[in-house]
Amino acid sequence: MTPSSVLILGARSDIGRAVARRFAQSGASVILAARRADGLADELADLRIRFKVAAEAIEFDVTDGEAERFFDALPELPHTVVMVVGLLGDQPRSEADLDAASAVMATNYTGPACYLLAAARRMAMRGSGCIVGISSVAGDRGRQSNYVYGSAKAGFTAFLAGLRNRLFRRGVTVVTVKPGFVATAMTAGMKLPPLLTAQPDEVGQAIFTAVTKGKDTIYVRPIWRLIMAVIRNVPEIVFKRLSM
Ligand SMILES: NC(=O)c1ccc[n+]([C@@H]2O[C@H](COP(=O)([O-])OP(=O)(O)OC[C@H]3O[C@@H](n4cnc5c(N)ncnc54)[C@H](OP(=O)(O)O)[C@@H]3O)[C@@H](O)[C@H]2O)c1
Repeated sequence: MTPSSVLILGARSDIGRAVARRFAQSGASVILAARRADGLADELADLRIRFKVAAEAIEFDVTDGEAERFFDALPELPHTVVMVVGLLGDQPRSEADLDAASAVMATNYTGPACYLLAAARRMAMRGSGCIVGISSVAGDRGRQSNYVYGSAKAGFTAFLAGLRNRLFRRGVTVVTVKPGFVATAMTAGMKLPPLLTAQPDEVGQAIFTAVTKGKDTIYVRPIWRLIMAVIRNVPEIVFKRLSM
């Protein structure tokens, strides 16, 4: 099944743009939703010229509490909705400044979950569609180095699992994406091990394949499934003594 249309929420991100290109390559029309959407003219022109698909951009802020209005204003409910938005934040800053912590939680969990609830209800009524949420391996186990971000992603992962279960008999599929490390603006300046680090186009391809094959949860580089199985199974009495 190849989706006829896709909505990318958080479309200016490196991963969002890669997802848009991959779906457009298959002939899907594309809606790019992002803050400062009027700055996406180059991306729109690229999609229209290179892939000969319809492409438009719309303004969107995941924390604005306007999800119902956002979906009501769309000319048509797209087949696939991909939630790409995320905010890594800074763990020491989140510990010192509760507004910073709250922004990380809202951007990675409550905001995305509310937008996807609004999409899910409409897809369930239609009886078809696919919802994709980009979560993180950071949500597989809380670690001292990034547990505010990790806990928000853990909440988002649980939300996506429940949504998948809820929509299973309504003709709507839900894909949870755990990318592992990806070379993007979010990780710029970090020293990442090449074997464990995907490129944005790899993530775009993995998401496209997962949507067309009806997958549930994907780790973009399969090695991450093994790594996280090990990390999840370290006994707490040992884990709390580690510097991770
Ligand atoms: N890179 C990695 O290693 C990695 C690993 C695991 C998971 N992920 C996840 O992958 C997703 C994409 O991340 P990325 O690596 O491509 O990083 P990125 O380029 O920093 O993308 C994050 C995007 O979220 C958008 N955003 C943040 N707050 C928003 C808000 N309130 N409303 C609307 N959009 C907002 C940003 O928009 P602006 O352009 O307006 O700032 C940006 O485009 C995120 O969910 C991230 O958590 C990334």
